[in-house]
Amino acid sequence: MSKPLEGVKIIDFTHVQAGPACTQLLAWFGADVIKVERPGSGDVTRNQLRDIPEADALYFTMLNSNKRSLTLDTKTQDGKEVLEKLIQESDVLVENFAPGALDRMGFTWERINELNPKMIVASVKGFSDGHHYDDLKVYENVAQCAGGAASTTGFWDGPPTVSAAALGDSNTGMHLAIGILTALIGRDKTGKGQKVAVSMQDSVINLCRVKLRDQQRLDRVGYLEEYPQYPHGEFTDVVPRGGNAGGGGQPGWVLKCKGWETDPNAYIYFTVQGHAWEPICRAIGKPEWIDDPAYMTAQARQPHIFDIFNTIEAWLADKTKFEAVDILRKFDIPCAPVLSMKEIANDESLRASGTIVEVDHKARGKYLTVGSPIKFSDMKPEITGSPLLGEHTEEVLKDLGYSFDQIANLREAKVV
Ligand code: COA
Repeated sequence: MSKPLEGVKIIDFTHVQAGPACTQLLAWFGADVIKVERPGSGDVTRNQLRDIPEADALYFTMLNSNKRSLTLDTKTQDGKEVLEKLIQESDVLVENFAPGALDRMGFTWERINELNPKMIVASVKGFSDGHHYDDLKVYENVAQCAGGAASTTGFWDGPPTVSAAALGDSNTGMHLAIGILTALIGRDKTGKGQKVAVSMQDSVINLCRVKLRDQQRLDRVGYLEEYPQYPHGEFTDVVPRGGNAGGGGQPGWVLKCKGWETDPNAYIYFTVQGHAWEPICRAIGKPEWIDDPAYMTAQARQPHIFDIFNTIEAWLADKTKFEAVDILRKFDIPCAPVLSMKEIANDESLRASGTIVEVDHKARGKYLTVGSPIKFSDMKPEITGSPLLGEHTEEVLKDLGYSFDQIANLREAKVV
């Protein structure tokens, strides 16, 4: 089956997570993604947190599937020539080096544009161009702190907290992928390439949109009624950390189920959806609350919402998280078990949908990875193993017109 991005050639000058997550997604959808790596070492994640001494680390394999690997020292004259040829033949160059690194290498936007005016150059940086921190190197948690996520995550009596979800890295990569696809559609209309830039801080802020909503509400009225601080606690002039409170208009909390004393994940998330109050009361065996003025409306419930959660927890005490959800789903109550990564890895539905996939790797054998979260009616992305360092060097150079002897010389000089 042909894939929509077949024929799009991408120079993948990315490393670590943010950039590789973007190019991996484009590779799944058919783009020819050539990962350019330094000879001898390659992407630093090949060696980070290895679980098998001689094989690429999962950190690398899970972010670089469906790609080809070309080793190339782009700081040598011969290496620069190879890169120039690649630029002339490609559609997109994606990079997430530290600020200024590509320019120092001699590949400014102007130079790339001169070599190939149709080229789209896509970059991830920690902060956007012109920002007062735009010289900083940035990793995931730095971005979560600079993007408002850390100050609003966690509990009010604890410090700012980062999320395990890669809001700074993979999330930024997804934003960049949208930017690249938009620029490709734009190029079809104008014939011209362009620069696409996404900062990690901006991408985190984009996901923290509702917290900026809350800041403005707080500025105006002085309280936020869906936060646990309301009405008994205190508000300052900044959005507080709300623990596990629901972020929208539906109160919710993480509630204990049977076995919580020994199983750290024996919990469900329970949402008190306003119009589902009646089914909630029926489900938890409190029909008398349905017409009780102290419980009937969301406003009436809010002052004692934690007493309500305590009552639901008492109902949950003899039910596992799965049994509880099986009961509550019949009442149309938005809820889910808190799943461990082990449960996710073994989840049959996730395997069947292709969200969790097992792939083969030449050096490490089978491993699990996350497949495409985007599902199409006419395409099923097939996830293949990540490339070994320099696995496709010869093949890529041959396609660029290099002879066997020239390739041998480049190898000898450690350019590839
Ligand atoms: N051949 C020759 N040199 C190469 C090369 C190649 N194939 N690939 C990379 N390099 C060089 C770069 O040109 C750079 O050289 P310079 O500093 O002399 O100009 C050098 O390798 C190191 O690159 P850098 O990006 O500075 O790596 P780092 O390990 O010091 O920093 C980050 C890592 C992630 C902090 C930094 O790249 C960064 O802030 N990137 C932007 C934000 C980002 O994506 N963060 C990571 C999210 S997962």
